[in-house]
Amino acid sequence: MATSPPVATGSGNAQGGEAVTEPETLLRLTGIRKRYGGVQALRGVDFDVRSGEVHALVGENGAGKSTLIKIISGAETADQGTVEMDGQRLGGGNTSAALDAGIATVYQEPQLFGELSVAENIFIGRELTKGVLVDRATQRAKVDELLDRLGLDRTLADVRVADIPVGEQQLVSIAKAFSHDPKILILDEPSAILTDREIDTLFEVVKGLREHGVGIIYISHRLDELSVIADRVTVLRDGEKVAAHPMREVTIRKIVELMVGHVPGGPPAGHTLAADAEPALEVSGLGRRGRFQDVSFAVRPSEVVAVYGLIGSGTGPLARALYGIDPADTGTIKLNGEPVSLPTPQAAARTGIALLPGNRKAQGVFAIKSIAFNISVAHLHLLRKLRIWVDRRREQEVATDFIKRIAIKAPGPQTPVNALSGGNQQKVVLARQLVERPGVLVLEEPTQGVDVGAKEEIHKQILALADQGTAVLVVSSDLLEVLELADRVLVVRAGSIVAEFGRGASQADVLAAAAGDDSGEAHVLDAARAAVAQEVETR
Ligand SMILES: Nc1ncnc2c1ncn2[C@@H]1O[C@H](COP(=O)(O)OP(=O)(O)OP(=O)(O)O)[C@@H](O)[C@H]1O
Ligand SMILES: [Mg+2]
Repeated sequence: MATSPPVATGSGNAQGGEAVTEPETLLRLTGIRKRYGGVQALRGVDFDVRSGEVHALVGENGAGKSTLIKIISGAETADQGTVEMDGQRLGGGNTSAALDAGIATVYQEPQLFGELSVAENIFIGRELTKGVLVDRATQRAKVDELLDRLGLDRTLADVRVADIPVGEQQLVSIAKAFSHDPKILILDEPSAILTDREIDTLFEVVKGLREHGVGIIYISHRLDELSVIADRVTVLRDGEKVAAHPMREVTIRKIVELMVGHVPGGPPAGHTLAADAEPALEVSGLGRRGRFQDVSFAVRPSEVVAVYGLIGSGTGPLARALYGIDPADTGTIKLNGEPVSLPTPQAAARTGIALLPGNRKAQGVFAIKSIAFNISVAHLHLLRKLRIWVDRRREQEVATDFIKRIAIKAPGPQTPVNALSGGNQQKVVLARQLVERPGVLVLEEPTQGVDVGAKEEIHKQILALADQGTAVLVVSSDLLEVLELADRVLVVRAGSIVAEFGRGASQADVLAAAAGDDSGEAHVLDAARAAVAQEVETR
């Protein structure tokens, strides 16, 4: 493997001369191998991180990214290979040794104690003391400072972690990692459940750490982020390192090719609509005080309608009203022409609307059960009602089919879900909904945490379901996804639908509608997304 040339660090003035001094290598992994039962998760991976760089680690779901960082953080032990920090070899399988050496990790699944407050979580097990007493004042000052840095409200310090949204929980995990003043900070998909605004804050903080010489390992499936934040990128495929490049020398398209091992197929083609069908889902004058108001729209059979809005626009609460989690207090919802009331999630489920909620990390899977079981739970109640015994063979067949179709990477349908990579767990939850072929399907962030290849396959499956007559409503903050899937895009701003677009709408127009004329600020991410969209369009 070719060695990479030196990378420009945060200051960005290392251009031109050969006499550039190579930044110090902080962390070095050599020949890492790891096997889980029949799965060879890592096959001899070399990897290093320099002081003051953001080193992105990318690859399809199941490529081995989380396994590699668990080995660095001491949460797992490698079967073979070495991990060196500052030239000192780290014994494997010891998280406190890794922390002591200056390696702090934010895992893909939040690892906080829900019953404890934010402040308690940050200092658990290493309370600051003054004499024999916990020094609460100093501790609180530190917590305040961390919350400020991450753009979080100081009043959060005393709130139970279980009571705050997952996006903020993720930021708390990051605050906790910062509190160790690490030399290496590992972020495993920090952005999957963050809003664009939260991601912008995170990037500012990451850039600040980089300026101070911290080395950052950044895992993400949102490849458009890489051009904003990464200095170098390493691509894993099936447990092998297939490339490592300075970010400015590769295009996103090239990275995708390296990840999937071939030139990916294009986005799914649109599909045809029966123009005159009666709406399957019809919402009129829907409102929930302080969240959204006077929302009206209809989704016909075979139609895919997307609801798109920026953070705080009200799309999340709107989806939660359709799930019966936080019910609407005004307006009506009709299913196939019949008014329905959705006061609770159970009531919503009984109407026959199939729902894929956001936040699937917190809910959704029976982790110790098999893929087959998890895919079938949604229709179990139906089978029971009809007094049909669960047909294990059929369950197995359906699961095997879906494992193939949406590329769930697993040895087989009986593999327990907790042995799957994060993205593959997401696919299992989605498969459960697709299996049922419901009349109306509401999906919130359907491809969160899913890799690019599987994302297109999932989009194809959603469109195929629509072709068979399902009315699909997609609530998504992923603009490219919205434009690819939707026959119509409804743009929500300040709790109201402010614009509607048909197929072929431009990114710029939809974004402008979502941001509103008053908010002229352009996000860095928006610009990156526009650039990536351009690149994708021209392939
Ligand atoms: N505890 C475990 N038991 C068995 N297999 C495992 C376990 N953890 C991971 N694996 C397997 O190892 C492989 C690599 O998983 P890993 O979690 O490292 O993937 P990843 O690159 O992080 O994917 P994602 O993008 O979906 O998070 C996968 O095939 C996964 O199923
Ligand atoms: Mg992972």
